[in-house]
Amino acid sequence: MSRTATLERTDFRVRDEIDLPREGGGIVEGRATRREAYPIFVTGSLDATVDRLSELAGEAQLAVITEEVVYRLHGRALVVALRESGFATEVHVLPAGERSKSLERALELWDWLAHGSISRRDLVVSLGGGVINDLGGWVASGYMRGLPYVNLPTTLLAQVDGAIGGKVAVNHAVAKNLIGAFYQPTGVISNVAFLETLDERQLRSGLAESIKKAVIASPAYWDFIEQNAEAILARDLPALKRLVHCAGAIKTRLVQRDPYEEDLRRPLNFGHTVGHPLETITGYGPLFHGEAVAFGMAVESRIAAARGLLSQTDLDRIIGLLRRVGLPTSARDLPVPAPGTRLVQAMEKVRLIRAGSLRYVLPVTFGETVIADNVSDQELLEALARSGVEPLRG
Ligand SMILES: NC(=O)c1ccc[n+]([C@@H]2O[C@H](COP(=O)([O-])OP(=O)(O)OC[C@H]3O[C@@H](n4cnc5c(N)ncnc54)[C@H](O)[C@@H]3O)[C@@H](O)[C@H]2O)c1
Repeated sequence: MSRTATLERTDFRVRDEIDLPREGGGIVEGRATRREAYPIFVTGSLDATVDRLSELAGEAQLAVITEEVVYRLHGRALVVALRESGFATEVHVLPAGERSKSLERALELWDWLAHGSISRRDLVVSLGGGVINDLGGWVASGYMRGLPYVNLPTTLLAQVDGAIGGKVAVNHAVAKNLIGAFYQPTGVISNVAFLETLDERQLRSGLAESIKKAVIASPAYWDFIEQNAEAILARDLPALKRLVHCAGAIKTRLVQRDPYEEDLRRPLNFGHTVGHPLETITGYGPLFHGEAVAFGMAVESRIAAARGLLSQTDLDRIIGLLRRVGLPTSARDLPVPAPGTRLVQAMEKVRLIRAGSLRYVLPVTFGETVIADNVSDQELLEALARSGVEPLRG
């Protein structure tokens, strides 16, 4: 018997006596508030993950969205465990990879939901890396004007960053994440045991987003990562749990200040002014997001040091830790060429879109940044040269 059948029915009487506005009176203000708080659980086993999901799901049916790699490694076992726990569970498996973050796949998922038995109170479960979390959240946001959803991130990048904050989207041919919304999850459950099967390069790439948070917002987190880098890379479960737990706490504190990104002066963009255009020119794929951000952090830290904002000691510590965990800090370390001319052209394009200024997040020390939009071309070119980017042509 499905869990939905156990819901009790009771009479529910509603009585209202709403006052009318003054005749010819003021403008009526439309208002809506939404509860936008959610727990971020960190677990270390499938059983504990199912327990947490049961707490969040209550009597709901579950619509699990996942992709083939994750389904084979973890999804099948999760679905079996959920069904054994009494949950009516439907599952839809997509191809792995960024190409699935598309409107076509969103339509496919809406078709699947429409032909199934999922209703307004049921729960979407997005099991996968950032691709599935972004796509599943977007599909949930649009179906029946918004189904609740839970993120079960399976990559380190998604556990320390993407699954938190409610930014959901699919890509468009013109730009990444162009079609999307802010739509908060009902909960996030990060099972660090999922990371045991993750490719080592993916693990390192995810760590870049943790290092970013440490530099911009938390000397204590920085110390933790510095002291535990090897344990993290060796996938020591307690170290991973702490890493993910702290990242959740830091990210929510940072996004809480400006959940809908009305102000673009955000320290969370550290590494992205250079990293994002680098991803664009290398075609999203050969270079992982965290690798591009790591390289961007190295260049932007060098700009900060050249300005006298960041001490040489702190610059060495930032570059040193990125290197120690195998992240690129120089063009030589990148898995693809980074042609300086094309990189600067791509940054110029962003400058034009942003009404003439490029905004940089420059670290001052651990936990302190300056948001600057007056970094000159000369400063950028010098930092790129110090980062091994070939001299510009033309
Ligand atoms: N919403 C946000 O705030 C936010 C933030 C950062 C990134 N993102 C998005 O996240 C996406 C990138 O996320 P990602 O790096 O997790 O990519 P991904 O989801 O494509 O996962 C990377 C690879 O790892 C594999 N994988 C996933 N979990 C695994 C596991 N446990 N074991 C073995 N293999 C596994 C996947 O099959 C895939 O090949 C991008 O689309 C980016 O735009 C969103």
